[in-house]
Amino acid sequence: MPFPSQLAQVPPPDEAGCPDAGRARMPAHVAIIMDGNGRWAAARGLPRVEGHRRGVVALRRAVRAADAMGIRYLTVYGFSTENWRRPAEEVADLFGLLRIFIRRDLAELHESNVRVRVIGDRAGLDEDVVALLDEAQDLTRRNTGLTFVVAFNYGGRQEIARAARALARLVRAGQLDPEAIDVDLLGSVLDTRDFPDPDLVIRTSGEVRISNFLPWQTAYSEFVFLSEHWPDFDEATLRGAVEQFLRRDRRFGGRNARAV
Ligand code: FPP
Repeated sequence: MPFPSQLAQVPPPDEAGCPDAGRARMPAHVAIIMDGNGRWAAARGLPRVEGHRRGVVALRRAVRAADAMGIRYLTVYGFSTENWRRPAEEVADLFGLLRIFIRRDLAELHESNVRVRVIGDRAGLDEDVVALLDEAQDLTRRNTGLTFVVAFNYGGRQEIARAARALARLVRAGQLDPEAIDVDLLGSVLDTRDFPDPDLVIRTSGEVRISNFLPWQTAYSEFVFLSEHWPDFDEATLRGAVEQFLRRDRRFGGRNARAV
């Protein structure tokens, strides 16, 4: 069952003609801020790490659901540059879960034709983690199904600063005219250069902010903020968020055909 009937009933803009010209299409790229693992655990009197473990289970569900719904790109915020401020034990737990996730799930992701990509800063990561991330990317690089992007040690402002440094080096080497730097050129040196911008960003657990997640790429994204904690996220939650997205009127700064 690829789509629920409500989704199938929404006609794409070109079929719908002018009145629905601003109506959203099925999102090609969904990005998720997986928040609320700690609160989920606290509400059950469990240690935080249990919330993160259940968060990994929810992540598996989300990847399968996105794939089944025909979403082309799924990006998740696995570990932010600001997450280093957490107690060392929790940071170690999160890295441990990443290691387990890649070791256990990589074969299945590959069999499902999922292409894994990792964005964020490799500097500061343990060598074995970098090796695992490289292995996941290398093994799945030719896959043609869902592109699953893990943002790990990722910060959006840091990504933009890295991109600016890359362009500045070209200017210093005499290979780039500063006047040639435009939105497309800067976008082409970001970690996300191979992916379209997210159409839909979902954040769980009631917080209404983006927390340094893809600030450049989400300039025209639609946001859905959900009260559920991340460990409770499942296929129905994803479908509900996509249905909200499909009701949105995306104008990208232009004017909708309905407006006069
Ligand atoms: C937020 O919950 C979640 C995170 C800090 C990271 C999400 C991590 C996972 C789902 C598991 C490991 C990741 C990968 C990629 C395998 P929180 O702890 O901030 O929750 P709280 O706000 O309720 O405390």
